[in-house]
Amino acid sequence: MAAESGDKWILTVTAQTPTNIAVIKYWGKRHEELILPINDSISVTLDPDHLCTTTSVAVSPAFTHDRMWLNGKEVSLSGDRFQNCLRELRSRASDVEDEKKGIKISKKDWEKLRLHIVSFNNFPTAAGLASSAAGLACLVFSLANLMNVKEDHSKLSAIARQGSGSACRSLFGGFAKWIMGKEENGSDSIAVQLADEKHWDDLVIIIAVVSSRQKETSSTSGMRDTVETSMLLQHRAKEVVPKRVKQMEEAIEKRDFPSFARLACADSNQFHAVCLDTLPPIFYMNDTSHKIISCVEKWNRHEGTPQVAYTFDAGPNAVLISHNRKTAALLLQRLLFLFPPQSDTDLDSYVIGDKTILKDAG
Ligand code: DP6
Repeated sequence: MAAESGDKWILTVTAQTPTNIAVIKYWGKRHEELILPINDSISVTLDPDHLCTTTSVAVSPAFTHDRMWLNGKEVSLSGDRFQNCLRELRSRASDVEDEKKGIKISKKDWEKLRLHIVSFNNFPTAAGLASSAAGLACLVFSLANLMNVKEDHSKLSAIARQGSGSACRSLFGGFAKWIMGKEENGSDSIAVQLADEKHWDDLVIIIAVVSSRQKETSSTSGMRDTVETSMLLQHRAKEVVPKRVKQMEEAIEKRDFPSFARLACADSNQFHAVCLDTLPPIFYMNDTSHKIISCVEKWNRHEGTPQVAYTFDAGPNAVLISHNRKTAALLLQRLLFLFPPQSDTDLDSYVIGDKTILKDAG
């Protein structure tokens, strides 16, 4: 280890991973620790220039503990999820050699070496904008690079999955599917890419940030309660989602926006219906979210064919997908008209395709 330069070396890797938004939702686990889902899910990965996590990982013999800072604050790494990911990565690590710096790390050194991790989200954390997805995917991806783990993205996705289920889909751009798998050890519960980022590049995604506050019920505890108490969930996972996943794959392949929009909206609504069917009921959306749904539904009905799709994760923020820039501009106009800044129902900010418009926080 560090043959020529003593202990005064540090090796770093920085990576950026975008967040993903599910258009067919994952909600419910069949195995809590391995994070194995009860149904397949499909997501669209956002533009990496915007909603994304940037993570730098560093290793040095001078480090005495694994430590992590998230958005400038130190966070604990004692949780099982982080430790599971780290164990999986360490067991797959390879030799690393940097002749110029005189660094030589052997496979077994990784067991002893400690890591420092610095991570930033450029969007609200834990506000239903899939921050854990981007965060865990980025952590696994950057550590895999640092440790010279020679696995493809799908194999890495099975590791990221153990950090946070939805993270496995963020290792791919474009559209990704998380296959629930059948194996008890989770080896086949991986993400695959359905289509790359160029396949449907005229889609525009607008995120209307209804509230950037942290949600009251985390996805992890919310879905645990739903699995324990909702009867509707079994029907959704067994009867509805398998058919919907096939239809969604077809819609994406054919770039069939009306089918894509109908399926995405229906799935978001059913996900929130199973949340309501939970004991005690979980309310992720608020009045503003409901108003946004009504606005889109009215517009789509008026046009006769869907112009815009909406989907809401575990929070009140709306993810709105339109099939071209012209419709996106009209949509933004309507949102600003219906939710004027400084009113009771104004929105915190809009994130639009390649632009972010932030309201003055003052
Ligand atoms: C509503 O992946 O955050 O966003 O696996 O417990 O970490 P854990 O949950 P998480 O749940 C995401 C739920 C969702 C739907 C989705 O992304 O598919």
